[in-house]
Amino acid sequence: MTPHTGPGAVVDAVAELQLAELQLAELHTSLSSPISDSMNFLNEVAQRYPDAISLAAGRPYEGFLEIEAVTRHIETYRTHLRERYGHDEAQVRRTMLQYGRTKGIIHDLVARHLAVDEGITADPESIVVTVGCQEALYLTLRALRRTERDVLLAVVPSYVGLTGAAQLADMRVLPVRTSDEGIDFDHLAAVVARAKADGLRPRGCYVVADFANPTGTSLDLDTRERLLRAAEEHDFLILEDNPYGFFGDGSAPLPTLKALDRAQRVVYLGSFAKTGLPGARVGYVVADQWVAGPGGGRSRLADQLAKIKSMLTVNTSPVAQAVIGGKLLEHDCSLRAANAREIRVYRDNLRMVLDGLAARFPQGSRPAVTWNVPRGGFFVVLTLPFVAGDDLLEESALRHGVLWTPMHHFYGDGRPRREIRLSVSHLTPEEITEGLDRLAAFARAQAAPVTEVAR
Ligand SMILES: Cc1ncc(COP(=O)(O)O)c(C=O)c1O
Repeated sequence: MTPHTGPGAVVDAVAELQLAELQLAELHTSLSSPISDSMNFLNEVAQRYPDAISLAAGRPYEGFLEIEAVTRHIETYRTHLRERYGHDEAQVRRTMLQYGRTKGIIHDLVARHLAVDEGITADPESIVVTVGCQEALYLTLRALRRTERDVLLAVVPSYVGLTGAAQLADMRVLPVRTSDEGIDFDHLAAVVARAKADGLRPRGCYVVADFANPTGTSLDLDTRERLLRAAEEHDFLILEDNPYGFFGDGSAPLPTLKALDRAQRVVYLGSFAKTGLPGARVGYVVADQWVAGPGGGRSRLADQLAKIKSMLTVNTSPVAQAVIGGKLLEHDCSLRAANAREIRVYRDNLRMVLDGLAARFPQGSRPAVTWNVPRGGFFVVLTLPFVAGDDLLEESALRHGVLWTPMHHFYGDGRPRREIRLSVSHLTPEEITEGLDRLAAFARAQAAPVTEVAR
């Protein structure tokens, strides 16, 4: 028999192979959830319409990003290691370029930043420096979720990354309604009572107290105090996520929940994406709660989170930490000071959007469009006189060249609503003007009676 050789043999062999095929239904449930589909859809629409003006992306402003600053920050951090810790060159190299401490190497600087900018006293040992705030969220949820009885309360609509992280951690989220104060406490109490009656354990309540994503709203001081009392009363932790707190309207900032926390109820989740450098992907978590062990010993929750991190990302890139560390050092650990220009851009952009909406949709005019008036942050929520789902987003991109985010993505139930989220954090004034003109044209076209459109 002629041996079967040559290029054809490879083709034949492949034809005989059983190529692996996996079933989505047999992969982790998070992969078939509407949340992962919605993120894909939003990214994909943005890619398909690259010329559309995006009022959808919540990205930081790029105008002040500089490559040169990165090398300068690294140099600053290197000098700090030599001068503050007396490191020789080999130790500096090891700290900045080797695998490193799981909880991070800039924890002392993060603690100083929290003291200087937020009035938060945090033991550096209670801080874990993470790969963005997103990892901090996941580590915390993963640790709190022991069994399917452990659930998370979250004020809805909430940040998509929270819902996604909870799904990855197999943790059910129980939605809590918002009210004029930001949290409907009667609903919170009812949700907790029902959960406990069903044998569930609400372990935490996720909240963005300052200029939330996606609503832009903030909790007033009374509501903050009340939430802390509710956490004690119902025995859950508060997961405070605070990426936008600096970007207020210039009035005195309110204390964070963590700054008000006397009973170690608050796990504080921080991000340097908006205040440091988004591409560095550095965030952190302050987890100063004590965890009792079997033999009477205790450890910090931060050390438990570090155990999970050691199996997930091992440690946060020390090069990235050096960049953020250097930036902190160059501004005496005050990121409020470091972000003076960004704070002005975000404030001006928000004002411009609010004024621009008022000019384009005067009260009493048609289409009847209304919006909330956040006192800071990146986001404004618009209520349209029609349901605005993914199909209309597509229409808006195609016919009017403007993108926005349908609010249903932040409810996680896929039910389209009349609200949309606008973000203008990364746009120039010219782009904002043009984007709002396009948005107004879209709203007019969509709200017009069919006969009028046909004419
Ligand atoms: C409320 C909220 N939390 C966390 C994050 C993620 O932060 P990081 O980029 O540090 O992972 C974002 C990003 O948009 C956010 O809006």
